[in-house]
Amino acid sequence: RIIPVLMSGGSGSRLWPLSRERYPKQLLPLCGERTMVQETALRVHGPAFADPIVVCNQEHRFAVAEQLRAVGVSPRHLVLEPAGRNTAPALAVAAALAVEADPEALVLALPADHAVLDVPAFHEVVAKAAALAGHGYIVTFGIRPAGPHTGYGYIQVGAAFDGHEGVHVLERFTEKPCRAVAEEYVAGGRHLWNSGILLAPAALLLAELERFEPAVPAATGQALMRAARDLDFLRLDPAAFAAAPSVSIDIAVMERTDRACVIPCDLGWTDVGSWSALWDIASKDADGNVTLGDVMLVDSRDTYVRTTDGKLVAAVGLESAVVVVTEDAVLVAAKDRVEEVKQVVTRLKADD
Ligand code: GDD
Ligand code: MG
Repeated sequence: RIIPVLMSGGSGSRLWPLSRERYPKQLLPLCGERTMVQETALRVHGPAFADPIVVCNQEHRFAVAEQLRAVGVSPRHLVLEPAGRNTAPALAVAAALAVEADPEALVLALPADHAVLDVPAFHEVVAKAAALAGHGYIVTFGIRPAGPHTGYGYIQVGAAFDGHEGVHVLERFTEKPCRAVAEEYVAGGRHLWNSGILLAPAALLLAELERFEPAVPAATGQALMRAARDLDFLRLDPAAFAAAPSVSIDIAVMERTDRACVIPCDLGWTDVGSWSALWDIASKDADGNVTLGDVMLVDSRDTYVRTTDGKLVAAVGLESAVVVVTEDAVLVAAKDRVEEVKQVVTRLKADD
């Protein structure tokens, strides 16, 4: 069985003011009634999957534990990071725990803050990927690019894999290229976006980390050896874990490994990174508006408005706008500029 690894470490700064450091996007119900981490856990809940390993920041431990309990998911480990060191150390810890349980274990690394609209398709692709990972491959899930987005990794699709339909050699992985390169990739038609989901033998992930970034498994091995059990939590040793280089699995392994392949897939996948991405996937009224909470729109189009209990929002004549109201902050933005919400957060932090 596949051991899912839920990576819940981001802060979702482009979704300010709803997403905050203390309550980041994966812990919020952004596209439905359940939170992103609940949706992610339920997507891999079933006979094909073992109980997940969850890796999160220690600040979020009670929220994560409670949200998972509420949907009937009991993690096999709930690992607490004293401070995030990016995805390579998080996955190194999870892979080591998986290998301990079963040297042949396959791990399915899942960002806890993505939406997958077509879950049956996702399960089909995972089954296909598992067959391949069992032969000693790191399987990535490639998404047809909708544009030259510079916030994604790009996978160059190589030759078809013998005997495995719909699977290709991963020719080259480029994490977050510059605009010009991304444009070239999209025009060339040979590249896919990296979804950030990957399936691999846990032992192979560890071996590749050992090969390319040995300081990561060295530090995480120590952090696990000195880890403390506390209630249901596994607390990594802070000093040992801090010694791990802060690096993503994409840069540490994916850009360098020759053991990777890619399955091009159509999963209704979105990284739900910004308010316009949420508008994209939400159901809209006849004028293209999305409203959540007590909202009154007059003569407005293609607009996203979200408010909180007790705060009525009324707007007139808006076009392609975003308005988000929380207890203590209001965001008003042009929908095609929402990527820049990050700058608000940076400036707020600087003013602190
Ligand atoms: N536990 C833990 N600890 N999780 C982490 C940490 C950490 O220190 N850092 C990031 N994560 C989790 C995030 O919560 C998210 O679910 C996932 O790992 C990816 O991290 P991001 O910080 O969101 O990465 P990104 O969006 O810049 O880029 C990655 O995802 C893209 C797709 O959304 C890369 O994999 C790209 O190649 C990919 O295209
Ligand atoms: Mg992301």
